[in-house]
Amino acid sequence: MSNIVDFSDVPRHLAFIMDGNGRWARERGLARAVGHRRGARAARNVVEAALKYGIPHITLFAFSTENFNRPASEVSFLMRLCTRSVKKYAKFFMENGIKFLMIGDMDRLPCELQLAINQLCDATSSFTKLTLAVAINYGARAEIANAVKKIVRKRIPESDISWETVADHLYTRELPDPDMVIRTSGEKRLSNFLLMQVAYAELYFVDKYWPDVDEETFVEVLREYAKRNRRMGKL
Ligand code: IPE
Ligand code: IPE
Ligand code: MG
Repeated sequence: MSNIVDFSDVPRHLAFIMDGNGRWARERGLARAVGHRRGARAARNVVEAALKYGIPHITLFAFSTENFNRPASEVSFLMRLCTRSVKKYAKFFMENGIKFLMIGDMDRLPCELQLAINQLCDATSSFTKLTLAVAINYGARAEIANAVKKIVRKRIPESDISWETVADHLYTRELPDPDMVIRTSGEKRLSNFLLMQVAYAELYFVDKYWPDVDEETFVEVLREYAKRNRRMGKL
């Protein structure tokens, strides 16, 4: 397939549910950890493709709040992989003008990961070429409950509360709503990901496992997006 893309309607924000690392590994008789490592490489492919095709915002779902219910050994492996990846790619972010955002609850993350995230957020805060948001310990219901708590704590008058007020208190306040959510591995569900922000997003389910995602997959996503007719309630 040709990788030349010339679409007039390029999405502003693509959000990826990176699923299927474990099954990718199992089908090859490998440990789940190997699948996660290959998954991190696929994430890098997606970020490079976003730069190449001029997509200004990308969100990657790396670890859900519910993923803390996995065996402790897998949770600690994933935390170490996140820490290593954040540190390893810091230079790549600086060189390519990528702004890093974290969406999710930092409190339960290991100190070393919190520190690496905070450093990368600070170092890249003025960049505008591409914003990469990574969702770690993210759950949409917890996010909404937190937003309500913050609004109550600020004693914002009831008459001033609109959807925009709520949106301003979500982790995603700096991001436009996703135009499309892409989930790999053939599962067709959202698994508590950005439930309010995807109210009008296009949904696209890809059969391949996340470690097999490459530039060609990214181009397929852009082609699919270009075919959709987004009416947003209008005629
Ligand atoms: C996605 O792959 C990565 C995380 C959820 C952390 P999975 O680990 O969910 O892989 P499968 O779904 O078991 O194949
Ligand atoms: C969703 O994948 C979370 C991430 C991709 C980080 P899961 O593998 O955790 O989702 P379920 O359990 O199949 O719904
Ligand atoms: Mg999964």
